[in-house]
Amino acid sequence: MTAQTSRVNPRSFLYFFAGSLTVILVYVLSGHLPSRESPAAFQAPHTEILPDGSEHSFADTAPGSTQPFEPSHSDSESSSLKTPGITEQEDGWYTDPEENPYGAEGVDVSDLLTPEQFAASNENMKIEHIELRSQMTKDGKWFTTDFVTQNAYNPGFLPHPYKADTWVMFAQRDKNQVGPHDARVFYGPNAPYIIYGSQGPAGSCLGMYIHDLRRLTPSLYNESSGSITSPADPFFWPTDLHRPPPVGGVEKNWFAFFDMNDEMYLHYDVKPTKRSFAKVNTSDGTVGDDLAPLATTDDKCMADLMPAYHHNDREWIHQATNSLSITLCKRSDPSCHPTADNTFIMLLFQTKTFYMHGVYYPYIMLFRREAPFQIHGISQKPFWFNGRGRMNEFWRWSTWKPKDQTQMVFTTQMSWAEQGNMYHGYLDDTVILAFGIEDKHGGGLDVKAEDLLQGMSFCNGGDGES
Ligand SMILES: *[C@@H]1O[C@H](CO)[C@@H](O)[C@H](O)[C@H]1NC(C)=O
Ligand SMILES: *[C@@H]1O[C@H](CO)[C@@H](O)[C@H](O)[C@H]1NC(C)=O
Repeated sequence: MTAQTSRVNPRSFLYFFAGSLTVILVYVLSGHLPSRESPAAFQAPHTEILPDGSEHSFADTAPGSTQPFEPSHSDSESSSLKTPGITEQEDGWYTDPEENPYGAEGVDVSDLLTPEQFAASNENMKIEHIELRSQMTKDGKWFTTDFVTQNAYNPGFLPHPYKADTWVMFAQRDKNQVGPHDARVFYGPNAPYIIYGSQGPAGSCLGMYIHDLRRLTPSLYNESSGSITSPADPFFWPTDLHRPPPVGGVEKNWFAFFDMNDEMYLHYDVKPTKRSFAKVNTSDGTVGDDLAPLATTDDKCMADLMPAYHHNDREWIHQATNSLSITLCKRSDPSCHPTADNTFIMLLFQTKTFYMHGVYYPYIMLFRREAPFQIHGISQKPFWFNGRGRMNEFWRWSTWKPKDQTQMVFTTQMSWAEQGNMYHGYLDDTVILAFGIEDKHGGGLDVKAEDLLQGMSFCNGGDGES
């Protein structure tokens, strides 16, 4: 994979990397929640594959009637197209000073912070990072992807099921709290899934749902590329997922993980001092007991290795992405074989700080792929995605926030880049990270998996042989 440009024109829904990387965009829209009981209500979250042509069209298409989008040409010139009224900045950040309610230079609201908050925020800006650089963009920076004139929340990339060197980007068009939201797409060992938050069947409390993604994207996963046909298969219907008590208010960002036998579990929390996870019954979404207390080495490991943060109600730690399984040796090494000792679950969590503007710091956690799933290692510095705006750069022109903060980058998803890898990979495999930028744009960055493990410390004190 090589690429010549890391820019995308806001009018071009298809994003070309000089003929070698194509991203097809699929929307996950909000809407009514379908259920096993009322399959007739099966209309959302539905996907929309944008048609070709420079005019965008968001015709609502029912699932099953979407047409696959066929890229007709590889147009490396697309990044030079101009949209009237939009100023294309050097770094691919678009802003229109004319229409910008905050003026050309943005608004500094530092004085809305207390001196303590301002000091904490500034201290955070000095945290050292591990820089991650793209291997496929020419300048090593992330690539951004926009859906024509629409916002795109919670982006996620998956390898196209049957087209080589093609990835599908999924994103959510509407950011509302009614109907499906906070969606994540991911591969398990045997199938792609989408997990999202939504109102419960009674429309009351917010819960989490999982659905076999193939059901929402019949044109990608068709009869010959592997569709799901049996209602007896797990998550043929959107299925509400449970959690062991105590059940708290708004549930968010749960992720699934799969043990060495591909049995599924749900991970609910990565809190600074505590995890929570349980085994799932894939027939009905019910779960067993919280298994986290069985991982008895976690307490010490978390106390030693979790990132520090200010305990001032402006900083939190949250799990962020789906999980992937990784064997800590190279695919290219003939002596490398996955075992329960060298194979781990990898996830990304982030510290979120909010000083009138969200700033996130992403970290990797590894835990064992075999019960009791104890933590193996945690990154000791957050990642910096090359391309992210630093203080007082172009990107802040359209914002209303304290100056001296860096760009908000919210990591949402990660996927093995290679078609067919699905859940499991090796140190020398490529991972595509997906993230939202300032709640406006979507972005991605490809890295070698081993790059994500730089700067890890391990629970037993560092040699990685716990
Ligand atoms: C179905 O999948 C095959 C690949 O297995 C692909 O060649 C074909 O174009 C797809 N058909 C449709 C209608 O998308
Ligand atoms: C899983 O759920 C199904 C459907 O409710 C039920 O019949 C089955 O006994 C459950 N399996 C286990 C192991 O609890």
